Amino acid sequence: MSATDLMDKLVSLAKRRGYVFQSSEIYGGTGSVWDYGPLGVELKRNLKDRWWSSMVHARDDIEGLDAAILMHPKVWEASGHVEGFTDPLVECTSCHRRFRADMPEVENGQCPTCGAKNAFTEPRLFNLMFKTFMGPVEDSSATVYIRPETAQGIYVNFLNVQGSARQKVPFGIAQIGKAFRNEITPGNFIFRTREFEQAEMQFFVKPGEDEAWFEQWMELRMQWHLDLGIRKEKLRFHEHGPDELAHYAKKAFDIEYDFPFGWKEFEGIHNRTDFDLSRHQEFSGKRLEYIDAPTNERFVPYVIETSMGVDRTALVVLADAYREEEVDGDTRVVLALSPQIAPIKTAVFPLVKKDGMPEIAGKIDADLRAAAIPSFYDQSGAIGRRYRRQDEVGTPWCITVDGETVEDGTVTVRDRDTLEQERVAADQIVAWVRDHVNVN
Ligand code: GAP
Repeated sequence: MSATDLMDKLVSLAKRRGYVFQSSEIYGGTGSVWDYGPLGVELKRNLKDRWWSSMVHARDDIEGLDAAILMHPKVWEASGHVEGFTDPLVECTSCHRRFRADMPEVENGQCPTCGAKNAFTEPRLFNLMFKTFMGPVEDSSATVYIRPETAQGIYVNFLNVQGSARQKVPFGIAQIGKAFRNEITPGNFIFRTREFEQAEMQFFVKPGEDEAWFEQWMELRMQWHLDLGIRKEKLRFHEHGPDELAHYAKKAFDIEYDFPFGWKEFEGIHNRTDFDLSRHQEFSGKRLEYIDAPTNERFVPYVIETSMGVDRTALVVLADAYREEEVDGDTRVVLALSPQIAPIKTAVFPLVKKDGMPEIAGKIDADLRAAAIPSFYDQSGAIGRRYRRQDEVGTPWCITVDGETVEDGTVTVRDRDTLEQERVAADQIVAWVRDHVNVN
């Protein structure tokens, strides 16, 4: 399957089965933002919950935060975004479309839209922050920015969180939330959009201990993706060269995935030094120092940041899970999603619509839902087709109530990946599924 084929198939499956829809589709769509449907919203929530439990619940040295999207405009002056959060932009003088100057086609001198040769204007720097006005007066004193990263909400709350949670350096603050960037060329489905979600964690350390913590966080974050079942050969680190480093970073590594359109970043690990806290100290006039208890030593902590794009990670797991297999002369499409993040965990079927099977199956489905296990009941069509529909959306287990169930109270549980079937007592299904979601 070619790379374009795979992307087309993913986009089409995502729409058909309720993972991702184009935003405002009935108006022709916006192209640069997407809506998550019933299955997509579950997938994203599962990714975020898994990230939150590994960062905040499983560790006693990271606290959670939910800072507002709109912040004081000086935040973005201090952070360097007003001055430096720019991409070089060129305009084609033939079709008047605008592009990032560093796109390969543009560098080769050909317009990606109309094909005109060497018709670009000189590059100019374009700031990616969205601006709006706060309050009823639309003048420059009311300008606010819609945050392009969640990190700044963490820095300005550093002392609030440290003091209220009685944390000692080293410790971290984690946050999940929306970020917005007026990207010049969004694209590749949910890969580069103008509205997206980030799961970011800022880890505050003593200067001098930053490099060791950086190594540790690189390892932990890569392991997190491997534990999600992403194929190892499709993941790699990419170290930023001097020309790639963001204005705040001393050192940065991307975690990249081998997408159908090439190796691309979906998480960044950055050593931001004391850049952000020092700048906020300077611009706000408030001290943002930490006082080390036994020695009374004062210092502005260094920050190691891990910044995962939730939408890009959703694309990673979808692309990595997509398989087409030959089974009994038929092609079956499977999303081999890890059970931890699969939107639906179980589908329950009566083999036929008689002999009390629908009632038993309906009760199993209700028991699973009551135990907060997302389940789906389906009694329509041939059993093979019902299996295929669930394979395509990534449901790990199909539970079938058949003649034997009526006699001995057991059901078959079919595994999406191995296609093996085992018999399990119907009254043990909830416990069986709970065990298997955690084990896998
Ligand atoms: N706070 C640091 C920061 O924002 P970044 O490398 O610019 O660093 C971090 O962004 C992550 O956010 C990226 O790895 C990516 O997954 C996600 N991201 C950034 N821009 C995006 C966009 N336009 N669309 C979707 N995700 C994006």
